[in-house]
Amino acid sequence: MATTSGRPGIFAVRDVRSLITETAEEGHGLKKAVGATHLTAMGVGAIIGTGIFVVIGEGAGIAGPAVILSFVLAAVACAFSALSYAELASSIPVAGSAYTYTYATLGELVAWIIGWDLILEYGVSVAAIAVGWGGNLNAFLDAAFGVALPDAIAKSPEDGGIFNLPAVFVVLAITFLLIRGVTESARVNLVMVAVKLVVLLFFIVVAFANFGTGNFQPFAPDGVDGVTAAAAVIFFAYIGFDAVSTGSEEAKQPARDLPLAIIGSLVICTIFYVLTAVGAIGIASPDQLEGSDAPLAAALDQGAGISWAAAILALGAVVAITSVVLVIMYGQTRIFFAMCRDGLLPQRLAQVNQRYGTPARLTMILGVLIAILAALVPLSEIVKLVNIGTLFAFVLVNIGVIVLRRTRPDMPRPYRVPWSPVLPILGIAFAVYLMSDLPWDTWVRFVVWLVIGVVIYWLYGYKNSRLRREQSATPGWARESDPRTPEDGDPS
Ligand code: ALA
Repeated sequence: MATTSGRPGIFAVRDVRSLITETAEEGHGLKKAVGATHLTAMGVGAIIGTGIFVVIGEGAGIAGPAVILSFVLAAVACAFSALSYAELASSIPVAGSAYTYTYATLGELVAWIIGWDLILEYGVSVAAIAVGWGGNLNAFLDAAFGVALPDAIAKSPEDGGIFNLPAVFVVLAITFLLIRGVTESARVNLVMVAVKLVVLLFFIVVAFANFGTGNFQPFAPDGVDGVTAAAAVIFFAYIGFDAVSTGSEEAKQPARDLPLAIIGSLVICTIFYVLTAVGAIGIASPDQLEGSDAPLAAALDQGAGISWAAAILALGAVVAITSVVLVIMYGQTRIFFAMCRDGLLPQRLAQVNQRYGTPARLTMILGVLIAILAALVPLSEIVKLVNIGTLFAFVLVNIGVIVLRRTRPDMPRPYRVPWSPVLPILGIAFAVYLMSDLPWDTWVRFVVWLVIGVVIYWLYGYKNSRLRREQSATPGWARESDPRTPEDGDPS
């Protein structure tokens, strides 16, 4: 929307067609190398990690055995949003996920806010997840060999150490892999996904073989409130299916494969999670789960008397979390890439390395920044902050589906959310519901984060936005009168 001075205002929207055209620009085009299996594995890779291996304990502490229902509730909340992600990812196969979709629907300022918000979901969470990785590495070394890294080099200052060397190591190793190429990264991820599914399967089989019903009473000590409060925390375990959409631009057949991978990975993980939660309560009490840093290993140890399983579970967690770091960091680089290409961040960073076909310079810079953060931050509070940021992104993606259906009714949509706008509205309602269950200090931190983002936009993005520069350079008569209603519907 142009201002009276002729410069597009802060709510100017990107045209879907030009977004897609820009993906083929010289030096800014990512390699189209990823198929359906690798995309689905990316989803599972990003989803299964700290949530099921660590955060399940906190959920059980809040909801009791009814944490099983919290897993179901969080999955249902995600399902509606997954459908919306699938529609937008398949219709706008451009790097950047929710950031890009918002740019095409709600305008630049909201797009920047969501891009900034996604930095919280992806960049900050990778640092925290890497910290969890270090903890599990130590648990594995301890369980398997009876040795562990000293606290000084294995913990953040707040947790009594100096800096977290394992967390730095995993971030830099993954940075290197991501620079090498998307195909290499996808292959390594596939192996890690196979390992973590086998480890979870092992847990489920052992748990069901030793299953008892004694821990199921009282089922929901804090009633519905306990179930929803736990779901707001457990939600962390499902974050990641949306990361598939950050890679839309590198998908070989986005129209078919993206919906399949987004919805497929969520379904696979939900089945594993619910079985794991039922199995865990079948062999351990909620108190036992809550009281441990490695609740699944503790369940096998205390509930089924299998102490050697701790090493297997810890190894599974290390591998699982490595793939979460890989895919979430991949998502972060692609969102940054899209924001740089649009000029909201320095455009020269959106350069694709000719040899590897990846945004190497950008990946390196992000990798170093995340490694520094990972050396110093503790895991605990970050989970809730990441949850609120992600749920906020879900709200905007659902709104995006509804808005684009009105503004671009003829746009080809290889996948359509059924019964729109009912299902996207349910997606919004569930996300807001879970957000409302998070503590107020999480809200305060979130608002502070967003305010910092708006200041940065005001100082940099507003002046350097590619959309604003290009539209300002175009004579008024040649510009579309209202970019919200482009005349033609075919972006291909
Ligand atoms: N879903 C991811 C995890 O649980 C973020 O680690």
